[in-house]
Amino acid sequence: MVSHSLHTILVACFLATAALTHQTQINTTCSENSTRLHLSDPPYENYFYSDCHSSSHVVITSPLSTSNLRVIGPRLLIAWPAGNSGIVSFFNAENGQNGTLSIKLENSTSTGETLDPIYIPRRSHYTGSKDWDPIVGVSGYINFNSSAVLTVPILGSIRTIRDFTEGPSIVYPAVQEAVRFSQEEHGRVSLSRTWFDNVTTASLQFTPINGSNAVEMRNGANTTLLFGKGTYQFNASFNYPQLDQLSPQEVLNNASQSLIEQNPDPTISLSFLSYTDKLLAGTWRFLTYFGRDSMISLLLLQPILSAGPNSSIEAVLSAVLERVNRTDGSVCHEEVIGDYATWLNLQKHVSSTAPGCDYKMVDTDLLLPVVLRSYLVDTEVGRNRSEAFLNTTASFLVSNAGLTYAELAQFTAQKIMNITAAFAAPCGQTKENLIHLKDGEVVGQWRDSEVGIGGGRIPYDVNTAMVPAALRAIAALSRAGLFPEHTEWDETATRYADVWEDETLGFFEVRVEREEALELVRNYVNESSFPGPVNTSSITSDVRFYGLALDGTSNQSLVRIMNTDDCYRLFLLNPTNQSQLTSFLDQAAEHILQPFPIGLSNPVGLFIANPAYGGNPIYAKSFTREAYHGIVVWSWQLAMMAEGVARQLERCSEPEVPDFCTNTPLHTKVLSAYNHLWDLIDNNQAQLSSEVWSWKYQDEDFHVEPLGAFGATESDVRQLWSLTFLAVRRKQF
Ligand SMILES: *[C@@H]1O[C@H](CO)[C@@H](O)[C@H](O)[C@H]1NC(C)=O
Ligand SMILES: *[C@@H]1O[C@H](CO)[C@@H](O)[C@H](O)[C@H]1NC(C)=O
Ligand SMILES: *[C@@H]1O[C@H](CO)[C@@H](O)[C@H](O)[C@H]1NC(C)=O
Ligand SMILES: *[C@@H]1O[C@H](CO)[C@@H](O)[C@H](O)[C@H]1NC(C)=O
Ligand SMILES: *[C@@H]1O[C@H](CO)[C@@H](O)[C@H](O)[C@H]1NC(C)=O
Ligand SMILES: *[C@@H]1O[C@H](CO)[C@@H](O)[C@H](O)[C@H]1NC(C)=O
Ligand SMILES: *[C@@H]1O[C@H](CO)[C@@H](O)[C@H](O)[C@H]1NC(C)=O
Ligand SMILES: *[C@@H]1O[C@H](CO)[C@@H](O)[C@H](O)[C@H]1NC(C)=O
Ligand SMILES: *[C@@H]1O[C@H](CO)[C@@H](O)[C@H](O)[C@H]1NC(C)=O
Ligand SMILES: *[C@@H]1O[C@H](CO)[C@@H](O)[C@H](O)[C@H]1NC(C)=O
Ligand SMILES: *[C@@H]1O[C@H](CO)[C@@H](O)[C@H](O)[C@H]1NC(C)=O
Ligand SMILES: *[C@@H]1O[C@H](CO)[C@@H](O)[C@H](O)[C@H]1NC(C)=O
Repeated sequence: MVSHSLHTILVACFLATAALTHQTQINTTCSENSTRLHLSDPPYENYFYSDCHSSSHVVITSPLSTSNLRVIGPRLLIAWPAGNSGIVSFFNAENGQNGTLSIKLENSTSTGETLDPIYIPRRSHYTGSKDWDPIVGVSGYINFNSSAVLTVPILGSIRTIRDFTEGPSIVYPAVQEAVRFSQEEHGRVSLSRTWFDNVTTASLQFTPINGSNAVEMRNGANTTLLFGKGTYQFNASFNYPQLDQLSPQEVLNNASQSLIEQNPDPTISLSFLSYTDKLLAGTWRFLTYFGRDSMISLLLLQPILSAGPNSSIEAVLSAVLERVNRTDGSVCHEEVIGDYATWLNLQKHVSSTAPGCDYKMVDTDLLLPVVLRSYLVDTEVGRNRSEAFLNTTASFLVSNAGLTYAELAQFTAQKIMNITAAFAAPCGQTKENLIHLKDGEVVGQWRDSEVGIGGGRIPYDVNTAMVPAALRAIAALSRAGLFPEHTEWDETATRYADVWEDETLGFFEVRVEREEALELVRNYVNESSFPGPVNTSSITSDVRFYGLALDGTSNQSLVRIMNTDDCYRLFLLNPTNQSQLTSFLDQAAEHILQPFPIGLSNPVGLFIANPAYGGNPIYAKSFTREAYHGIVVWSWQLAMMAEGVARQLERCSEPEVPDFCTNTPLHTKVLSAYNHLWDLIDNNQAQLSSEVWSWKYQDEDFHVEPLGAFGATESDVRQLWSLTFLAVRRKQF
C-alpha cells in the first residue's frame, strides 16, 4: 500500500537577506545532508524534509475515484515536530461538486525537489542578547486541476487540527479569528496567525506561477481564497524553538549502522521521530511525546538503539522520567506543548506557555520500571550509566524542577507497590483489588478509543501481564541498589509478582462449548454481513480465550472479545506455573493459526479483535473494520506477538525447560503459529511501518484498505512502534 522514494543531498539553505541585520555572521549551511522521503499511500501523498535547522512532514490528500467523498476531500497539511505544530488548509472545487477537484504537488523547476527548506535566521537587534528563533519551514508547488476554494485554514497546533479532522469538525473561534489574510504583490495571498504566546507566527503563502490566476480573497462570513486551475508556490513557516534531531547514525548503535543502507525508509522515518530529549509517537497525528508508545518502542527496538549519554535509549527514558507526576507517581501519557498548551493555560486563566501532561492511562506507569530495568540493570552500558543518569535533575515540567530522575522513578515504583498490595495480600485475590480504569475515564490502556475495550473497566493486558512485569522489574531495580530507601522491595515486589502472575488469568478466561461457538459465529456472520469465507468446520473443540476486560457495557461482566493482547504476557513474562503456561500458549497459538472469524488470522495480518463470540450484538456493532480498535491490524501488535512467541520458544533452550517444550504436539503448534505469523508479516511489508490498517473483500480475497478510507480516523503513515521491525526479525527454531 505504501510505496516510497528517497534521497539525500547536501543542503545550502535559502537565505532571505532582507530579514537579516548582520547576515554575514550567520552560517546557514548544515554539516549533515538533508533527508527527504516520499511515501505514497493513496489518497495520501506524504513528503518528509529534515535538515539541521528543522523537520517537516507534508501530506497532500486528493480523493480517488473510489474514495468516500464525505470523508476524503482535497487537503494540504504541514506538520512540525517542534511544538507539535502544524498548518492545514481544506479545499473544495469552486463548482461545489465534491470529487471534481484533484490536487498534487509538483517538483520545483529550479531544484528538481518537491519540497525545499525555508530557513531565515534572525539576529537580535540588541547586541549581546540571544538571537531570535529563525523562521523555518518548507516551500513547494501545489497544482489544482480546476479552480478551487480554500475553505478552512487552521494554523497552530496539531492538536487543534486533530480536533477538527477527527471529531464533528470542531473549530475554535479564538484560533480561527486570529488568522490574518493579506493580498500581496504578484497575486500572492498570505495567511498568518500569531500564537497565543504572542511570539510565534505561523504563516502560509500562495504565489501563482506559470501564469496561474492571482489568488482572490473572498470576504464572506469567513474569508475564503479562490485559486484558478494551475500551479501555486506555497510557503509554510513558523518561528519557534526547534528540536535537535537524532540522525539515523545517532539513533542506532554502532553494530546496527548497516541498517541505514539496508532499510533507508524505516531508518529515516525513525530518525524523523527521534530527538535528543524525546522520541515522538508518529506522524502526522501524534507528532509528540507519548509514554506508552515510547516505552514499547524502546523495549522492541533496544537491541539496535544507541546507548549511553545523548543516545536514543536515554532520550526515551529521560522524556518519561521528566514527565512523572510527583504527587502520585503517575507516568505521563501525552504531553501538551506549544500553542495548545498556552491555550489550555489561558483557559485556566494562567498566562503561561508551560507544558502540561495527561495522566489518564493506567498502563503507562507499569512500563516505566520495565524499561528502566531493561537498560540500567540488564545492559553493561546502562549499569555504568545508572548513577550519573539517575542523578540528572528534571527541568521539563515546572513542578518537577530540581527533582532527580532517581526520585521520580521512585515515585512511580511507590505508586505501583501501593496499588498492587491489596491483591497480593492473603485472600486479596478479588476482582475489586484488580487495577481499574481511573474514575471518570473511559480509556486507560492502548485500546484507547471509546469502544476499545467494550466499555470494560478492568483491562486484561494491564492486570495479567503489565502488573507482574512491573513488579519483577521493581524487584530487580531494588536488587541492583537503585532504590536505596527501599531495599525491601526486592522481596516484597517478588512476592506480589508471584501472586499477580499466577492468580489473574482466571478472571478473564472465556470458555465456549463447541456447539455454542458454532452458533455464535454463524449469528455473527449474519449480523455483520462478513463477506469472506467462514470456516466453521475448523471449530473442532471448545473455544477458549481471555476477554479484553471485565465489567463491560450492557452489563457484560466479561468483555468476550478475542484479542491479541496475549502478546504482552508472552513478551513481558516468563511464567513458571507450568499447567497455566501450557494452556495459555495453546490458546494463543490457536488464535494466531485460525482464520477470522474463528481466530484472528487474515491475509492482511492478525486482527486485534474478534467479536464473533461476544454474544451481545453490541460487540459486533462496535468492533468493525472501520473502528480504530476494531477488526483491523496494528503493526506493533504483530511485532510484540512475534517477539513474545519467540521469547517463549527461546526458553526451550534454557537450563530450566518449561513443560510445553517437551509436549511435542504443543511445541509444534506454537512453532507453526510463529511461522504463520511471520508469513503474515512478510506478506504485509508494504504497510508494516504505518500505524494501523483495515481491509476490503473484493474478487474473493482480502485486500489492505487504509483505515482513513472509512471514516475520520486516519492512520499515521509512520508510527514509532511500527518501526520496530528494524529489530524484530524472524528467528530459526
Ligand atoms: C558553515 O558550517 C558548515 C557545517 O558546520 C561548515 O562545513 C562550513 O565550513 C561553515 N561555513 C562557514 C563560512 O563558516
Ligand atoms: C552526503 O551525501 C553525499 C552523497 O550522497 C555523501 O557522499 C556524503 O558522505 C554525505 N555526507 C554526510 C555528512 O552524510
Ligand atoms: C462534500 O465534502 C464536504 C467536505 O469534505 C463534506 O463535509 C460533505 O459531506 C461532502 N458532501 C457529499 C455529498 O459527499
Ligand atoms: C480533476 O480531477 C478530477 C478527479 O480525477 C476529475 O473528476 C475532474 O474531471 C478533473 N477536472 C478537470 C477540469 O480536469
Ligand atoms: C518529481 O521528481 C521525482 C524524482 O526526483 C519524480 O520521481 C517525480 O515523478 C516527480 N514528480 C512530478 C510530479 O513530476
Ligand atoms: C518561499 O520560499 C522560497 C524558499 O525559501 C523562497 O525562495 C521564496 O522567496 C519564498 N516566497 C515567499 C513569497 O516568501
Ligand atoms: C466561520 O468560522 C467560524 C469559526 O471561527 C465557524 O464557527 C463558522 O462555522 C464558519 N462559518 C462558515 C460559513 O464557514
Ligand atoms: C498575549 O497577549 C494577550 C493580550 O495582551 C495577553 O492577555 C496574554 O496573556 C498574552 N499571552 C501570554 C502567554 O503571555
Ligand atoms: C512551469 O511551466 C514550465 C513550462 O511549461 C514547466 O516546464 C514547469 O514544470 C512548470 N513549473 C511548475 C512548477 O509547474
Ligand atoms: C498530578 O496529579 C495530581 C492528582 O493526582 C494533580 O492534582 C496534579 O495536577 C498532577 N500534576 C500535574 C503536573 O499535572
Ligand atoms: C549528583 O549531582 C550533584 C550535582 O547536581 C553532585 O553534587 C553529586 O555529587 C552527584 N551525585 C552523584 C552520586 O553523582
Ligand atoms: C503509597 O502509600 C503510602 C502509605 O499509604 C502513602 O503515604 C503514599 O503517599 C503512597 N504513595 C503513592 C505514590 O501513592
